[in-house]
Amino acid sequence: MKDFAGKIAFITGGASGAGLGQAKLFGGLGAKVTIVDIRQEAIDKAVAELKGLGIDALGIQMDLTNRPQYTAAADAAEKHWGAPPQLLIQTAGVNTFGPAEASTFEDYDWVLGVNLHGVVNGMVIFVPRMIKAYNTQNGTVNRDGGHIAIVSSMGAFDGFATDAPYSVSKAAVLNLGLSYYDALKPYGIGVTVQCPANINSNIGEAVKTRPASLSNTGYYVSEGTINMLKSIHAQGMDPVELAGHLKYAMENGLPVSLPHDPEAKMVRHSLEKVINFSSVEGMERVREEEKRMAEMMKNMPDGGPFGKPDPKFGPVEVFGQAKPDLEWVDTAKKKH
Ligand code: NAI
Repeated sequence: MKDFAGKIAFITGGASGAGLGQAKLFGGLGAKVTIVDIRQEAIDKAVAELKGLGIDALGIQMDLTNRPQYTAAADAAEKHWGAPPQLLIQTAGVNTFGPAEASTFEDYDWVLGVNLHGVVNGMVIFVPRMIKAYNTQNGTVNRDGGHIAIVSSMGAFDGFATDAPYSVSKAAVLNLGLSYYDALKPYGIGVTVQCPANINSNIGEAVKTRPASLSNTGYYVSEGTINMLKSIHAQGMDPVELAGHLKYAMENGLPVSLPHDPEAKMVRHSLEKVINFSSVEGMERVREEEKRMAEMMKNMPDGGPFGKPDPKFGPVEVFGQAKPDLEWVDTAKKKH
């Protein structure tokens, strides 16, 4: 997709962070923007901000894990703009950290529910509408029939001891996007999966949107761990700049966008690790690398790779620990 003026856009998680950045960028280029989000207050604020920028914006509150609600939101947006979106951007996502072995069913159900099944829901609800509306009229294929973007993460390329539900959800949506990229080629619908690293967003507070029905967690979460995450994310990439990387990938028909890794060095490193894991010689290389990393961490300035937490976010606590009462979890990995 090259021309965004007049296009109808539907952005999940559009009330905050990366999604709001996309709404500002594509709306600023003349797209008519629907933002959907689970938080009404954030939607109201975002819509007011977008309108203040002269952007034609509609906000709809919904939980994208709830299929009837999602379908109703798609219907309402279609009614408002008169047609389905040409630009579907699936950005909403949540995260929570803790040792994999402490994870509960609910930790998986919440994170995979939003990050994977929410995207699956978006595909099943919108893809047939987009094909019907834009790509097969009179038996012809419109080569600029629309574009679907999914925000995954650099977490898609590796496993992480304290981020299992999130990493698996992001690996899954990367794979899902690649399947749809191939499937939708004949319809002229492009697909791009963006895999960012750190973004200046509100994801540090994601646990506040966790539903009560899925509140049973094995992870230690507190205002302090949230403050720590907020301090880290404040150092991330600006959301409008991030949206610029997505625009570039969409304009050039690229199925993957690596905004923090333009030369794909980190991705190569992760894929190399998987290959190394498959041989005795490779495992030797992995152990050498682990030693090198341990040395590097020892020589890091105070606070590790993200520096000292910014006091403006309030008192901090270490995140990624298990709850203290999980007797099977190694003491060093839990709050005590
Ligand atoms: P954010 O928290 O600022 O924005 C995410 C939005 O999704 C929030 O407004 C939230 O209310 C909404 N949301 C959460 N659950 C929902 C649900 N069930 N239904 C509807 N809306 C829901 O966070 P951010 O960082 O802008 O996140 C955007 C995407 O970027 C996510 O998929 C995230 O996993 C991904 N990402 C974020 C990184 C970061 O460092 N912040 C790094 C890599 C990827």
